[in-house]
Amino acid sequence: MRILILNGSPHPDGATADMVAAFEKGAKEAGHDVVTFSVARMNVKGCLGCEYCHNKGEGKCVQQDDMQRLYPAFFSADMVVFASPIYYFTFSAQLQAVIHRTYAFGIPKNVKQTALILSSGDAFVYGPAITQYYQSIVEYWGVKNAGIFTANGDKNKSEEKRQELYTFGKNLKEEIA
Ligand SMILES: Cc1cc2nc3c(=O)[nH]c(=O)nc-3n(C[C@H](O)[C@H](O)[C@H](O)COP(=O)(O)O)c2cc1C
Repeated sequence: MRILILNGSPHPDGATADMVAAFEKGAKEAGHDVVTFSVARMNVKGCLGCEYCHNKGEGKCVQQDDMQRLYPAFFSADMVVFASPIYYFTFSAQLQAVIHRTYAFGIPKNVKQTALILSSGDAFVYGPAITQYYQSIVEYWGVKNAGIFTANGDKNKSEEKRQELYTFGKNLKEEIA
């Protein structure tokens, strides 16, 4: 299965990246084809709301930035994993920009499942991110939620979380129950 991971943290050695790396290791060992984009290090601008994509553009975005590298990755993915630090109770602005820019194509046809990885300072801060994930991704795309993983405080960069994410990746199945 082809897995696209979008990491919205600007920290290459941060807590989100730590969980992503553990998941990636497990998924690769299980034979999956995994590609990770550190979207906070990419040049992805916010949606202009110009509707070019829905009018003249036939699903293509008018903005020629790094999102043009991500569009093909969405189209070829069987699974998309959204990973982000919690910023003000939701996704980082950089990951949010990527999500908004999927407006151009709407629903990626091959994606059958998604997962969510979140890191935060405090506990009990995940409500808005999880609500958005369910409503604008899982329900809108009509896909299965394969798992939601969170780490806060001492659990960030912990062996316990690494093991959890590794096991999740290692046991991933293409078939959805
Ligand atoms: C701009 C900003 C906003 C943040 N907002 C929250 C928040 O609302 N709740 C929280 O628990 N942590 C918040 N944090 C802390 C981060 O979520 C936390 O440090 C996280 O582990 C960072 O992950 P990273 O190392 O992958 O970047 C915020 C951090 C920053 C820089």
